[in-house]
Amino acid sequence: MYNLAYGSLRSYEIKLPKKIVFGIGSLDKLGLEAKTLTEGRSTLIVTDENIARIGIASRVERILLDEGFKIEIFDKVESEPSIDTAEAISRYARSARFDLVIGVGGGSVMDMAKIASIASTNPKPVRNYIGINLVEKPGLPHILIPTTAGTGSEATDIAVVTLPEDEVKSSVISPYLLPDTALIDPSLTYTLPPRITASTGLDAISHALEALMSVNSNLITDILALEALKLAYIYLPEAYSSPNPENRYYMSLAALLAGIALCNAGVCLGHALAYTFAVKYRVPHGVSCGLTLPYAFEYNSISIDRKIPCIAKSMGVEVEGRSIKELSKTIKDNLLKLLEKLGIPTKLRQLGIERNDIPTLASKLLSLERLLKRNPRTVTIYEALEIIEEMW
Ligand SMILES: [Fe+2]
Repeated sequence: MYNLAYGSLRSYEIKLPKKIVFGIGSLDKLGLEAKTLTEGRSTLIVTDENIARIGIASRVERILLDEGFKIEIFDKVESEPSIDTAEAISRYARSARFDLVIGVGGGSVMDMAKIASIASTNPKPVRNYIGINLVEKPGLPHILIPTTAGTGSEATDIAVVTLPEDEVKSSVISPYLLPDTALIDPSLTYTLPPRITASTGLDAISHALEALMSVNSNLITDILALEALKLAYIYLPEAYSSPNPENRYYMSLAALLAGIALCNAGVCLGHALAYTFAVKYRVPHGVSCGLTLPYAFEYNSISIDRKIPCIAKSMGVEVEGRSIKELSKTIKDNLLKLLEKLGIPTKLRQLGIERNDIPTLASKLLSLERLLKRNPRTVTIYEALEIIEEMW
């Protein structure tokens, strides 16, 4: 019997980018890819000031100019973009008749490029599209080019926006957000500073392990997630302490595989726990998800017992002769050790979160129904308080 996906006789669909172009130097193929997507030449490049400053945006611009494209650049995407930024970029995208959108940057930039693409053809405020399948029409063709290795946004149908007034993150989810081309060139991550390597890489590990835990997982997402976990668990500490092309290559691959798993199985308790404090305490996405993952895994482990040996093997743990309980404990301990190795906090109090905030975080957790519905183990207020107390 398979140890993996729940109900192996279930039916499911797999959503993917229309095309994935992967490999060191693949940015050189951008011109060709762009030309196959549109006859038109008016292009919007979405990026951020840092990517513009280090010259990656101008490399993208140069390649497209050489192919006869006309370029406008929007470089005002902030990290963890707010709904106001999403509305600003949608106004910008509607201000001209663009034929193509290119997103070059981390997850925040790629998410906003997705918004620019759909905003061009869907006239309502972005706020109206927050939710599942509320976008009415396909957007402009878009190419996503990650410059970090972790968020997997290049392979998902999700754009995350922060709603500062509610101190929460929410998402536009639509098949129209999946890119026409995900163009992943690991060499674009060579200069990532260790802090960003760590936090984005932990996001990839969270996507893999949470997709494995999700009740919407299936055999295909499990296989992708296990491979992503295996790669990231080996190569993230390497890329953090001694980055070289091989480490960067496998981290980019891990992020992509985990992104596909996330897009199709979804994340669950780990991301939900992270969303309870990340906005209010301004904790980067990967740091918040990395911190919550060992605790979310520990809580869920009794509900995913058949998968535990596979997860353990992916993390290089010897499984022979060891009980599920022992393996689960080792996995949690190894996740905590990984955080320490990467200089990431393992407790909420290290982020300045007050103990008396725990009840607020617990009730916020229960409000994140979309994520908790996918969790393999039910969470009531009592358990929410217990998990967060343990994390504190
Ligand atoms: Fe994430």
